[in-house]
Amino acid sequence: MNNKKVCVLGGGGFVGRSIVNKLEKAGYAVRILTRAREHAKDMAVLPGVEVVEANIFDPADLQRCFAGMDVVINLVGILNEDKGSRIDLPMARRGDFHEIHVELARKVVHACAATGARRLLHMSALNADPNAPSAYLRSKGLGQAIVLESAMQHSEHEKWYLDGPKFVHAYGLDVTAFRPSVIFGREDSFINMFASLLKIAPVLPLASPDARFQPIFVEDVAQAFVESIENPASFGKAYDLCGPKAYSLLELVNMVNDMTGSQRKIIGLPPQLSWLMAAIFEHMPGRKLMTRDNYDTMKVDSVCQGNLPAELKLNLRSIEAVAPEYLARFDQYRDYRHAAGR
Ligand SMILES: NC(=O)c1ccc[n+]([C@@H]2O[C@H](COP(=O)([O-])OP(=O)(O)OC[C@H]3O[C@@H](n4cnc5c(N)ncnc54)[C@H](OP(=O)(O)O)[C@@H]3O)[C@@H](O)[C@H]2O)c1
Repeated sequence: MNNKKVCVLGGGGFVGRSIVNKLEKAGYAVRILTRAREHAKDMAVLPGVEVVEANIFDPADLQRCFAGMDVVINLVGILNEDKGSRIDLPMARRGDFHEIHVELARKVVHACAATGARRLLHMSALNADPNAPSAYLRSKGLGQAIVLESAMQHSEHEKWYLDGPKFVHAYGLDVTAFRPSVIFGREDSFINMFASLLKIAPVLPLASPDARFQPIFVEDVAQAFVESIENPASFGKAYDLCGPKAYSLLELVNMVNDMTGSQRKIIGLPPQLSWLMAAIFEHMPGRKLMTRDNYDTMKVDSVCQGNLPAELKLNLRSIEAVAPEYLARFDQYRDYRHAAGR
């Protein structure tokens, strides 16, 4: 039985649910912070899990929630900005890269320092870099830099932060950052989005068909987080996380086409048309299928160099091994083919 307390921001999301499940099984007491209890209601039924509604962008509320915690895990992130909708909400709560990936990372670091929660695990993204070609990757890169800087024992610039009545030194935390390529799993929004599109579109025009990815299974990402928590070898490090094999986007979508039995025609678009498609989709109402910032993100191959570090103890699962099971729900003729022995 583990008696450590872990606070997870974004614990009700796709990756968060896998991490929280593993933490709970390992005996940690988990507190999920969410904007709305409804978003994490499935997790609230687990005996070791508490779901707390909080305004994570308010430093005082963060400190209230981190009090008594040993570990903080920050998974909050967005792929696209959403500045227009719900103007009754402040920008951060609607969706702003800088507020969510940079300022929140800074607030989390300060709240950890203020409350004595020394262990911080931070979700970044592969290719996150302040000089990356997309706003998403640049903001993720800045957030990651803030978090890793807090692992240092002192600041080169002697920065001290005002926190209520006392000064707080936001350094000397035990931090680890994780930089995954695209993540797949039953509730992912990447593979499932293509499976849904292939079901309804007779022909699929595909933007950025040559973009490369090395998808990693959500349970493997969760394993990396949980394995690292108490391993000092991971302190101060940023891990690139990838699955066993790299693919072009066209190869991936063809694979989904086969796994769902959709048999659609997929047409890879050249760069100018890919950009145009992104620009059009960006202005469509509802969930964004693609934006120009996504197009810019895909200019850099989302693949890893070298092997995963042994200390993460990962036994990576491939998309071919895992996805057919969860994509079966898109294949209406699967049972007929099975019965016909095909
Ligand atoms: N999925 C991938 O392929 C992938 C790849 C690389 C990196 N990542 C990173 O991994 C992390 C988790 O990704 P995910 O796929 O699990 O995403 P997700 O399902 O969308 O979960 C993200 C969580 O962030 C919180 N959140 C989102 N927008 C927010 C906002 N405006 N204000 C406050 N909270 C907000 C949500 O919590 P509540 O709704 O409960 O408040 C949500 O549960 C993110 O940082 C993402 O950038 C994901």
